Amino acid sequence: MVPSLFWAATTLLGLAPVVQSTPQGFGLTTSTNTQQQPATSTAATTIVAGASAAAACNNSPLLCSRAYNNVTHMGAHDSAFLRDASTGNSIAGNQFFNATVALSAGIRLLQAQVHDVNNTLRLCHTDCSLLDAGPLADWLAKIKYWMDQNPNEVVTLLLVNSDSKPASTLGASFDSSGISTYGYTPSSTTATTVWPTLQNLISSNKRLVTFIAPLGTASPSHPFLLDEFTYVFETPYDVRSLSNFTCTLDRPSSAGTAASGLAAGMLPLMNHFAYTEITSSITVPNAGDIDTTNAPSTVTTGALGAHANSCNAAWGTKPVFVLVDFYDKGPAVDTADRLNGIVPTGRKSSAGGSATSGSGSARDGGMGARENQPYAGELQRPTGKGGMARDISG
Ligand SMILES: *[C@@H]1O[C@H](CO)[C@@H](O)[C@H](O)[C@H]1NC(C)=O
Ligand SMILES: *[C@@H]1O[C@H](CO)[C@@H](O)[C@H](O)[C@H]1NC(C)=O
Ligand SMILES: *[C@@H]1O[C@H](CO)[C@@H](O)[C@H](O)[C@H]1NC(C)=O
Ligand SMILES: *[C@@H]1O[C@H](CO)[C@@H](O)[C@H](O)[C@H]1NC(C)=O
Repeated sequence: MVPSLFWAATTLLGLAPVVQSTPQGFGLTTSTNTQQQPATSTAATTIVAGASAAAACNNSPLLCSRAYNNVTHMGAHDSAFLRDASTGNSIAGNQFFNATVALSAGIRLLQAQVHDVNNTLRLCHTDCSLLDAGPLADWLAKIKYWMDQNPNEVVTLLLVNSDSKPASTLGASFDSSGISTYGYTPSSTTATTVWPTLQNLISSNKRLVTFIAPLGTASPSHPFLLDEFTYVFETPYDVRSLSNFTCTLDRPSSAGTAASGLAAGMLPLMNHFAYTEITSSITVPNAGDIDTTNAPSTVTTGALGAHANSCNAAWGTKPVFVLVDFYDKGPAVDTADRLNGIVPTGRKSSAGGSATSGSGSARDGGMGARENQPYAGELQRPTGKGGMARDISG
């Protein structure tokens, strides 16, 4: 077994502190979490005990005692909508790697869009005829499997309820996936600054925080499904120029300004992804500038690091959530690590995708705009199919 070898090596080499790392996808966390590793000597027992004291939460022991809302959770925007071989490198895709690969790379917030097709909830990009990532329940089951393998990790979901389905209908997909068992229900049904520490969430095994936009009437049997705009406010999402990222409150407009949202206890979400315009009404994720957009730089205009610093300064607190496209570029999680003040352990970096690989057909592409917008009307479809792929690939 890998764990046994690992423990033996640490014993022999006297590397006890190394055991604090929490590798994702290697199955090691199960044993460190339960501390049931067979001990064949006093030395080994000592190491196991030492390991438990320093176990990582969300990739760092420093985050265990940190409140959920005192951590920046780096997120993958439209995490189910891929620009990879599975979609013919669709230019409508927002990510090069899927959601569980993203989790292993340190992403802890997964955003996606839910649609109702023939009474089945599916993850579709704007419209199921354009980019259909399959049933919500199947995707949730994969997230659940990852969480099973990584018991010291707290994951947040943000789902756009595009067809305004009842909470109970959404909840049925959560139940059938098995992931409901991890659902965390805050004690407050209104915005609150009182959140548990990551360790609290991990110890109670309620490690999944789920926001839905919009939720509608809550489902009594799924109290862990939370209305996003009750608890969270967002900065603008429809940004088409790298100089246009701001820290102003865009939604919910009823919350007023960022300052009043913060004063009310809302958690700030910083949207940091850019679109390229095909026409004024048709946009696709801007992959061409992604190395700048996701850069950790705190001085480059449009860079993730600089935007995060602006918001931290404007708000007097760091963003609790950040959403980016093509998370592996930057890599975006570097900026969260800086804000959190950690040197991460136990991550698997995603192999670099090509930022310029977009070559999807005009029909697949061109529908990328505003997928984060829960109340949007239908987007205008492209009329001149021929020109789109050419415009994008340039
Ligand atoms: C957030 O965590 C930092 C680092 O541990 C700590 O200094 C700070 O007091 C915390 N903030 C709140 C509001 O608890
Ligand atoms: C991501 O890809 C890996 C490897 O193909 C697969 O095992 C995993 O289930 C996928 N995750 C999702 C959410 O599709
Ligand atoms: C929904 O039903 C229609 C009509 O039966 C069918 O053509 C279509 O393929 C179905 N869509 C999905 C995603 O199952
Ligand atoms: C940038 O923001 C300004 C001010 O809101 C707006 O007038 C302009 O159209 C925006 N530019 C782009 C490319 O989105």
